[in-house]
Amino acid sequence: MQQIKQMLDQNPAEISTPCYFYSVSKLQQNFEALKAALGTQVIVSVKANSNTDLLIRASHFLTDGVEVASIKELQGIVGGDRTRYVNNPSADKVFLRAAVSGKARLIIDSLAQLEIVAELAQKRPPAGIILRLNPVVLKQFNDAHPKVRPDQFGMDWDTACIAIDICKANNLPLMGFHLFKGSYSFERSAMATVDSVKGIIAGMERRYGQPLSFANLGGGFSERWQESEFDFAAYREKLAELPQHITLAHESGRGLMASAGYFAVRVRYVKQIESQHYAICDGGIAQNFLLAQTENALRKLKTPALWQAEPSDAKAACTFVGSSCSKDDVIGKQSDEHVLPKPGDVCIFDHCGAYNASYTVAPFLQLPQATTYIVE
Ligand SMILES: Cc1ncc(COP(=O)(O)O)c(C=O)c1O
Repeated sequence: MQQIKQMLDQNPAEISTPCYFYSVSKLQQNFEALKAALGTQVIVSVKANSNTDLLIRASHFLTDGVEVASIKELQGIVGGDRTRYVNNPSADKVFLRAAVSGKARLIIDSLAQLEIVAELAQKRPPAGIILRLNPVVLKQFNDAHPKVRPDQFGMDWDTACIAIDICKANNLPLMGFHLFKGSYSFERSAMATVDSVKGIIAGMERRYGQPLSFANLGGGFSERWQESEFDFAAYREKLAELPQHITLAHESGRGLMASAGYFAVRVRYVKQIESQHYAICDGGIAQNFLLAQTENALRKLKTPALWQAEPSDAKAACTFVGSSCSKDDVIGKQSDEHVLPKPGDVCIFDHCGAYNASYTVAPFLQLPQATTYIVE
């Protein structure tokens, strides 16, 4: 935040709003902290932030691989030596062929996808096959596993067994399995999942007749996971009970990216309707869909930090609105202990590095897209 304000102090006209700022050093801190907390590989879920410049600038420390869910995301990951995981239940032959050609590891969601890969493998063997297991398998291997919200991803155990047989019959390089219980799911069932995983590894190796090499235990870390009271040391001890020949990984989107990103808009006008002040900004829901929280039943709008073009100290409650003419384009709120913005001031929202840009659909009213600045 300080760095962004300094950039604005130095040359405000050069900062084109609305814009995102992504901090490479904050991303590195988050990555290293999560890796140390878990004691495993940490794979980056690109869907949270697919900004190519950021991913290139971070490539020297994001060393455990990236997970992509579309051909476009796959193409955005430059550097042939980066470990890439392809994971999407709807991945078709075109996408799977591109993934095989690009030497990506394939996270297989269904038998139909595996059949396509078996056919492609006759010409070019894939770099690795990982079977995505549906969370129902966790309960099957550990009756005490907490309930996980049902989802449509991956395979149940019987299907996974058929998939293992297909891998054997077609000489496909089965590495292991992938689990994902959903966003924000980590703490609630992390320990129980490790107990399930013990049984899953043994069961899969028995069926495959060979040792596996890899297990991705999923993720579901919140954007503020560092503030949680979860006992990571106990978790690392529990992971040490798993067979040593398996490389363990977790994956994260928001836990790595959210706090590395900021979103900024300029105030164009300030007006008052009866006692209510409104700051009308040059960007909003059309560049940062999540900020308006239209998907939340209870909106808890963020209060932006203010960079002032000219200092002032008049304080007032204020609602920050975007540029889309939509009644729902309300992106922030402040109470009356904050300085009232003036036209030309810049409002900076923190924790906007995950999904804020990538989950924003094509801009309404053909409004301009946000500019992106990568800061060290
Ligand atoms: C398979 C998979 N992995 C990782 C993620 C990233 O989740 P989060 O950003 O909550 O870490 C998602 C999100 O949808 C996902 O579907």
